[in-house]
Amino acid sequence: MRAAISLLVLLLSMCGVQTEGQGTDTSSQDVSTELKELRDLVVDLRATVRHTRDDVKVLETDNVAVKGRLVASETKVQALQENKAEMKTEVDNLKRENAAQEVELAVLKTRLAATETEVKDLKMKASAALEQELTAVKTRLAASETTVDDLKKENAAQEAELTAVKTRLANSETKVENLENEIRAAPKVAFSAGLGYGSIESGRRSLDVVFSRVITNVGQAYNSTTGFFTAPVRGVYYFSFTVMDNLDSRYMIIRMYKNRERLMWLNEHDTDGKASYLSGGLTLQLEKGDTVILQIPEKSRLYDNDSNHSTFSGFLLFPL
Ligand SMILES: *[C@@H]1O[C@H](CO)[C@@H](O)[C@H](O)[C@H]1NC(C)=O
Ligand SMILES: *[C@@H]1O[C@H](CO)[C@@H](O)[C@H](O)[C@H]1NC(C)=O
Ligand SMILES: *[C@@H]1O[C@H](CO)[C@@H](O)[C@H](O)[C@H]1NC(C)=O
Repeated sequence: MRAAISLLVLLLSMCGVQTEGQGTDTSSQDVSTELKELRDLVVDLRATVRHTRDDVKVLETDNVAVKGRLVASETKVQALQENKAEMKTEVDNLKRENAAQEVELAVLKTRLAATETEVKDLKMKASAALEQELTAVKTRLAASETTVDDLKKENAAQEAELTAVKTRLANSETKVENLENEIRAAPKVAFSAGLGYGSIESGRRSLDVVFSRVITNVGQAYNSTTGFFTAPVRGVYYFSFTVMDNLDSRYMIIRMYKNRERLMWLNEHDTDGKASYLSGGLTLQLEKGDTVILQIPEKSRLYDNDSNHSTFSGFLLFPL
């Protein structure tokens, strides 16, 4: 509005200058023309003013828009400022936090250093302990080795002893085997024989007693047909006999011979008619082929029955 009024004043003043220049001798026609021109001018001016008003309106609108934008900008600025303040606060907080973290970091560093020292100490202690243990283990190992050595020596000694024992055992076994062979090879001689059922009686001549009921005859050295024992090997032999008679008022006589050489003469005079016995025995050294026989003299007798009252026995004690 103010701009429009200023424009109007400016135009009027211009018109005044033109009027002064033309002078006083101008006609009324000229005046009316001029008036007409002025009216036109006013019309134009009005139009201009309208336009100007529109412009002003536009400008006002613009102004409002600008104001709006300004307000928006100010709001933004305020927001930014607030934001800035917030950020500052945040930065402050962060700084504080950072400071706190630094403190914490320092504490952690201290603790780390302490821990490292502790670890170092522990390592040293552990190392010392391990060395001690290692020494102990070495000592034990050495002791064990000594023991093992001792055991080995002992073992060697035992093995030697064992070998000796084995040798002795082998020798003993050989000896036993030899003895067994000897025993197996040695003649086995033993016999017992009974007179048999009934009695024997000599006539005018002496009689070789034949014990014909063989009880035992290992080696067959006793001949139950002839009554002779014949030594199969040189050696020491033992002989024994028991003979019986049961008749009254008779002499019972028995003799032992070796190769017809008399070794023994026993007799018994019976008066009661009951059983009478004669027993004897001798150990004899015989050569191979020597004979032993029992004999009764002439007019003599011996009795036996199923009870084996009269028997003759002998065996080899040992060969020579
Ligand atoms: C016993 O002697 C008899 C007579 O000499 C003889 O025929 C017999 O073969 C002998 N018996 C034994 C087992 O030697
Ligand atoms: C054998 O003889 C004995 C003595 O004379 C006699 O007591 C016994 O009854 C006899 N035995 C037999 C079975 O004859
Ligand atoms: C006498 O000896 C024989 C032979 O060994 C035997 O069978 C018998 O039973 C003996 N007699 C008695 C009464 O023991």
